[in-house]
Amino acid sequence: MYSVEELQKIVKAEVESRSKKMLELNPVELYEPIHYSLEMGGKRLRPVLLLLAYNLFADDVMAAVPAALAIEVFHNFTLLHDDIMDKADVRRNRPTVHKKFSENSAILSGDAMAFQSYKYLVECKSSRLVEALDLFTTTAIEVCEGQQFDMDFENRLDVTEAEYLEMIRLKTAVLLACSLKAGALLANASNQQASQLYDFGINLGLSFQLQDDLLDTFGDQDTFGKKIGGDILANKKTFLLINALQNASAEQKSVLLNWIEKVDFNAEEKIAAVTKIYNQLGVKERAEQRVDSYFKKAIVNLDTIQLEDVVKQPLYELANKMLTRKH
Ligand code: IPE
Ligand code: IPE
Ligand code: MG
Ligand code: MG
Ligand code: MG
Repeated sequence: MYSVEELQKIVKAEVESRSKKMLELNPVELYEPIHYSLEMGGKRLRPVLLLLAYNLFADDVMAAVPAALAIEVFHNFTLLHDDIMDKADVRRNRPTVHKKFSENSAILSGDAMAFQSYKYLVECKSSRLVEALDLFTTTAIEVCEGQQFDMDFENRLDVTEAEYLEMIRLKTAVLLACSLKAGALLANASNQQASQLYDFGINLGLSFQLQDDLLDTFGDQDTFGKKIGGDILANKKTFLLINALQNASAEQKSVLLNWIEKVDFNAEEKIAAVTKIYNQLGVKERAEQRVDSYFKKAIVNLDTIQLEDVVKQPLYELANKMLTRKH
């Protein structure tokens, strides 16, 4: 059985060696942004989740490493395009790909990464590879659906909490769930176990995105690695904003709406004004409760999987690390 740390090392080494190889390819303008995106770190949660799930049912984790790599490359591809859509200039404390290179580079290198991720996945020799490919493809389409909802919601004021939860399920949770289920499928787990791991991933993913929204407003910029307040500037319908709009007094609501509608404004002023209302309304605490409640649901999902506790220990450990993350 592998520890979380051992798997993190395996993933890191694999991502580094594969991304280095990109630098030998032509045209460099296509491959350099891919290398930049892959070697700029990140928590590597999804590939480690995949390998942890695989290791629940099989010992030869090296056989699943190409699938782990596929998920990480796919995830990074979504970030290249997401940062264009979100007008985000900083990620992992460095300029985003479209800022460092160009928007066109981020689009095209992102496309190449999406396809490259399939090439990695098909390197896996498993009797259930087709099932894994089907899951991966369905998930990729769902992420696009979630990202579209995310953009559509920027222009709406009546987004409900239920709509928000469905949006973050699609844009974020399904990829975490897919990582876990793909690991299980490739290791030839039962369908029931694979689907229990998927459910665990969904609740973990909901808790993870709620936390990302919290950190986007209340995190520390240097630790988080992304610009604080980006969601506020883009009028993202996060749990924080939806909840604030629901609970605001008439006066607070008109201040919020005023900032949302303003076209010309000072970014820092808008972030400060909206954050002030969040603080007055205690939406941070309410969001923290939600993070906890989805996390607890995830733990119940993991408890339910009929395997010895010691085998599941590394998954509990990684989930707990995710809960207390600051970046
Ligand atoms: C960022 O994911 C996108 C979200 C779904 C919130 P991560 O927080 O896993 O990003 P990295 O890969 O660790 O930078
Ligand atoms: C991430 O949502 C979802 C995807 C990248 C698919 P965010 O837009 O909140 O992610 P960050 O905060 O930019 O990492
Ligand atoms: Mg974003
Ligand atoms: Mg986004
Ligand atoms: Mg975010």
